[in-house]
Amino acid sequence: MSANMQQDWKHWRLRREDTGLAWLELDKADSSTNVLSSEVMSEFARVLDALDAAPPKALVIASAKPAGFIAGADIEEFSRLDSVLAARMLVERGWLLFNRLAAVPYPTLALIRGHCMGGGLELALACRHRIVVDEPGTKLALPEVMLGIVPGWGGMLRLPALIGPAAALDLMLTGKSVDAKKAKRLGLADDCVPARVMESAARIVALGGKPARKLSAKERATRRAMNGPLRKRVADKARAQAARKVSRTNYPAPFAIVDIWEKYAGNALDVPGSDPSSLDAIFTSPTARNLVRVFHLQERLKAFGKDSDFAPRHMHVVGAGVMGGDIAAVCALRGMTVTLQDQSVERIAPAIARAAKLFERRHKGDARQVRFTLDRLIPDPKGQGVARADVIIEAIFENLEVKRSLFADLEAHARPDAVLATNTSSLRLEDIATALKDPSRLVGIHFFNPVPMLPLVEVVQGEATDAEVLRRATGFVRRIDKLPLPVQSAPGFLVNAVLGPYMLEALRCVEEGVAPETVDAALVAFGMPMGPVELVDTVGLDIAVAAGKALAGEGAEPPAQLLKLVGEGKLGRKSGEGYYRWVDGRAVKGAGKAAAKGGLLGGLLCRLWGTPASEAPPPIPAGLAERVLASLLAATRRCVELGVVADADLADAGVIFGTGFAPHTGGPLNYCESKGQPG
Ligand code: NAI
Repeated sequence: MSANMQQDWKHWRLRREDTGLAWLELDKADSSTNVLSSEVMSEFARVLDALDAAPPKALVIASAKPAGFIAGADIEEFSRLDSVLAARMLVERGWLLFNRLAAVPYPTLALIRGHCMGGGLELALACRHRIVVDEPGTKLALPEVMLGIVPGWGGMLRLPALIGPAAALDLMLTGKSVDAKKAKRLGLADDCVPARVMESAARIVALGGKPARKLSAKERATRRAMNGPLRKRVADKARAQAARKVSRTNYPAPFAIVDIWEKYAGNALDVPGSDPSSLDAIFTSPTARNLVRVFHLQERLKAFGKDSDFAPRHMHVVGAGVMGGDIAAVCALRGMTVTLQDQSVERIAPAIARAAKLFERRHKGDARQVRFTLDRLIPDPKGQGVARADVIIEAIFENLEVKRSLFADLEAHARPDAVLATNTSSLRLEDIATALKDPSRLVGIHFFNPVPMLPLVEVVQGEATDAEVLRRATGFVRRIDKLPLPVQSAPGFLVNAVLGPYMLEALRCVEEGVAPETVDAALVAFGMPMGPVELVDTVGLDIAVAAGKALAGEGAEPPAQLLKLVGEGKLGRKSGEGYYRWVDGRAVKGAGKAAAKGGLLGGLLCRLWGTPASEAPPPIPAGLAERVLASLLAATRRCVELGVVADADLADAGVIFGTGFAPHTGGPLNYCESKGQPG
């Protein structure tokens, strides 16, 4: 085997076997993950030159990083693009380079272990073969749409050609990832193998000289039809599905992807500058800039907790209700041993049943994994886990005296270094903390409902909370893969303090005679994931009254209609009626249509993007959305002024990831700034 002859390469390593097979490994210098920076890409061109000069019998491209194959393009570089011309050049370089890779005369194979995203998948698609390693970390996706851009390095050309346009458009419009088995099933990978045989499998396929995977006769017929008369039909269907989720004004990229596939053979560079699907249109719309901002905000939240090496293994949760049960389940899913305490086994059983369903969904029916995860979730009516736990979270009834006596007891039995946390939404941390001998031990870890779905967790610092306790609590939140937002102890913390006035303002509009459907449609059109009135119904009208009182102060009266409905026992979704009637967990809207959920645009941003508009949207009075939003924007500003969060960016991050606030705006304060209002 001959070693790397081209010593001046910083990021790529080429080895040639005596068999004639060449192994090319990417190991981006000074980085734990492989990203396709300009330097990595131009060096790749030089690698191809070297291979042209002495063509191998076959080439395997792999990663030398344990972290994964390739995470995608370099978003830092992308964020710095300052002109449409620069953006065009970036797209052009990748497009040409991967076309060059696709055209080499020798067989090529991408050996994919770990994440293979965006540009990384486009590189793999330009190879003749792909082998995926069957491990939980192997994930393949084209998530460009989540950053408001399009997969312009050949993804829109090659993915539809390989797996068919319907499946390809679904992946490109949602940005969702597929695991190794699914990649094989879709035809995206030639084979799916265990890690121990990956190299020999790659060698056999690459040297085997087989042509790219053969399509069956049926597949060939479908593809022919897709490229002929059915092409427009498939495109129209994808467009309609996208339009049910988002508007083209707010999110141009998904529509551009469909257009570029349908009319420009997947080549974004061919789209005339005046076309709404052009790179010019995409890069000059504020959406891409704002979604990249959201990405960076998310990275900032992820970085909290990095300064802690706290590695909790045992969690104890007290209270197996809506919140405690789901918190326990999420921790067990993340590999922790969890003891779950409540007043009796009967009260714990429903939480375990709910957890089992969650584990089945997350482990996609892998019965062994489901059982292992369930084994880690231990019903503990006597609270025996308290003495062993690294973290103890309290999620019992919202009652100060009960919580105080519980914490006094927990402190007496817990290990001295265990984190003691409360999930309270509305009680003052300081009032609970004084029940402890050492009040500095108490921290707030405030989850949102539903816990498995919502990424944000507020980590609350009380007046007395010790800095190390705070660090550990934050580290714990990262360990379960949630996004920690450090907040100061203040009524409603950030998220509820912002949502409260917003929901109340929406209810005031209803009180003034605007239909709930109209208020909701106005805010959904703006880009909120759910209208505020439907949100009140979902949260529960009783909770809204209590929260309203707590947040607005004793003087402010909740809307009379809200009190009347609560008086009649109409509490929203949970009682079957509130501002809407609820059937099968869905609000029945005036147009006779319940708002559908889920569907085409999966993934985090997609979930935040919004619910489809109802079929016959009511006319929306001018200024309605602005009026309701004004209360949310003012509340966000207030939280920054009061120091509830450290700065405006964190406020935007919290409101986006905690409420789903229209991501295309880059967050409420960024939105204010773009409108020329004080941020
Ligand atoms: P829940 O009423 O569904 O569950 C509370 C559970 O605690 C019940 O199963 C009850 O039997 C148990 N419990 C009460 N006293 C206990 C004790 N001394 N020892 C052991 N178990 C005891 O309540 P939910 O909604 O789960 O709320 C729990 C906490 O989470 C509250 O502090 C609430 O403010 C907070 N929270 C609630 C959210 C929500 O949307 N429901 C969102 C975020 C926080």
